[in-house]
Amino acid sequence: MSVDREKLSALLKWYRQEIKDDLVAAIIVNREGLIMDTISGSGDKSVEEDIVGGLSALVEPVLNRITQEFSSGSFGTGTFDTDEYRLIFCEAGPEAVFVTVLDSLAMIDPVFPLAYLTAEKIARIFDGRTVSPVIPKISSLTGSHIERKVDKLQKIKINASEYAFKLILGGDGGVGKTSMVHRFVEGTFAQDYKETIGVSIMKKECEFDDLDTLVRFVLWDLAGQTQFKRVRKNYLGNAEAGLLVYDVTRKDTYDNIKSWYNEIKAITPDINLILIGNKIDLKDKKQVSREEGEALAKDLGISYIETSAKTGDNVNDAFRTLALGLVNKFFVSEEV
Ligand code: GTP
Repeated sequence: MSVDREKLSALLKWYRQEIKDDLVAAIIVNREGLIMDTISGSGDKSVEEDIVGGLSALVEPVLNRITQEFSSGSFGTGTFDTDEYRLIFCEAGPEAVFVTVLDSLAMIDPVFPLAYLTAEKIARIFDGRTVSPVIPKISSLTGSHIERKVDKLQKIKINASEYAFKLILGGDGGVGKTSMVHRFVEGTFAQDYKETIGVSIMKKECEFDDLDTLVRFVLWDLAGQTQFKRVRKNYLGNAEAGLLVYDVTRKDTYDNIKSWYNEIKAITPDINLILIGNKIDLKDKKQVSREEGEALAKDLGISYIETSAKTGDNVNDAFRTLALGLVNKFFVSEEV
């Protein structure tokens, strides 16, 4: 079977761009430990070969351990620390394992959701299924629940198999909140615009097979129109997750994100938020650049992703990133 090498390389490039300085290398190996594709953190080709050559010797014994685990079931994901590096292993379907090599001082927590998402995409590329090589932008590099234990392979375990989270959507009227929810829940898009009145509630599950975990979102779609502001207050309470959505073709909706952020944070300070620049299919009308989106997300300390509810681009990834970020709070690690 032929693998779309170009897409694989594009995916690794995105991955590097998102992890930045902490990334030493990312390696895709097959189950026999053969290297199928790599990228180094620096992007320098000559350095890449050296690093990857040295690393494969390091990765191999761990891979052997993992391969043994595979034969007795599924390994899922794990971490391994050496004096010099921190490694994250994620199963990428039946064919491959995705290995992320980080600097020894790097934190696993913020990188793990991206590594997992990337491994899922690699599995899809190997399967010949359609997949976008875009990786969401993670700006919040805080917290580290996995303690370092040098030279011990640790399986990433989630301490419950099912979670239910209340998810809210913030953002001005007409930015595409309802459309995002419909795209995510039903996989459809409707062109005609009907204002959301008050709030509408939907449910959707995100499965993470390799983690043996199911995230159940209860989505509360709030009306963006200001006349409903008083109603909104009642619905923001107890939310664990939220999408802050603006329309990339309307600068004013971008400018209003901070006030949405402040309103939501004042009521639910612990909420996990992600910033969404929606309607990227309308390329000619774009008023807000990707860089501006990233800068705002960085400022707010949250992740950023550009989507189109119309074409479906990155919509699932946005929700899955949010889900993984939440599950991330419940990591435990176990020596194997
Ligand atoms: P309120 O309910 O008023 O808060 O609006 P909303 O943010 O839920 O927006 P909604 O999903 O209703 O979308 C508003 C309009 O934008 C509709 O006409 C949608 O068809 C359109 N729309 C939403 N997402 C996209 C997109 O990604 N691309 C394009 N081209 N149009 C979109």
